[in-house]
Amino acid sequence: MLMTTGPIGVFDSGYGGLTILRQIRATMPQYDYLYLGDNARAPYGERSFEVVYEFTRQAVRYLFDQGCHLVILACNTASAKALRTIQQVDLRRFDPKRRVLGVIRPTVEVVGNISKTRHVGIMATDGTIRSKTYELEIEKFYPDIQVTGEACPMWVPLVENDEYESPGADYFVRERIEHLLSRDPQIDSVILGCTHYPLLLGKIRQYMPQGVHIIEQGGYVATSLKDYLGRHPEMETRLTKGGNIRFLTTERAEQFREKAAVFMGETIEAERVQL
Ligand code: DGL
Repeated sequence: MLMTTGPIGVFDSGYGGLTILRQIRATMPQYDYLYLGDNARAPYGERSFEVVYEFTRQAVRYLFDQGCHLVILACNTASAKALRTIQQVDLRRFDPKRRVLGVIRPTVEVVGNISKTRHVGIMATDGTIRSKTYELEIEKFYPDIQVTGEACPMWVPLVENDEYESPGADYFVRERIEHLLSRDPQIDSVILGCTHYPLLLGKIRQYMPQGVHIIEQGGYVATSLKDYLGRHPEMETRLTKGGNIRFLTTERAEQFREKAAVFMGETIEAERVQL
């Protein structure tokens, strides 16, 4: 049976999207949320365009089948490689009234108000950097800004494997930051373009020179979503408001429960599902 109302779906390849969900829920606690982490197939960062698109499409379809009318791709890699095709091709087939939104646009929109030198760095997965989505989006809003992308392929594995507070993490965080800033010493603002990176924030702050602004996405995505729902009452009325949250994972529920608690700062329950 077709459900006319449902929770907001939030999708990520793994745990990273929880940093976005946490901020969205803090801003709008009244809604119900359904989080899906494709942990069995994470990380997506090094995967091809076709594979990320296919996995993301399956996840969106699954969340739609669970009754979600609005799905947030809380993953930059999926937003970079799959969002546009899903919006332009798949939604028409699934249900043109449903919506899928990403995390890149809300982040890009604020960068022009933050950078003074008009030199901006992006730290993200290899897939996001190679897609050049940030460059293209920033060019549309702020053509005067020069963008330098830095792929940080070790950062997601550090987070996924609970090594984000280890001395090994210091090494990889420091060398990527130094490499980025050696490529463009005029950078005064750096976007953390991966939803896993807030877990490394302590170390990123430690190695980022003073005066370089670190742009975290969560708050901007939450504000942008709130604004979107204010402008789209036809979608807002299709969201259930019970303040509930459910977690789904494609890997072991027990493992997800333990790790997600760290990201969310509270104990949670999780169910395993197959896409
Ligand atoms: N959290 C995802 C992002 O924002 C990437 C993690 C992955 O490589 O799967 O890009």
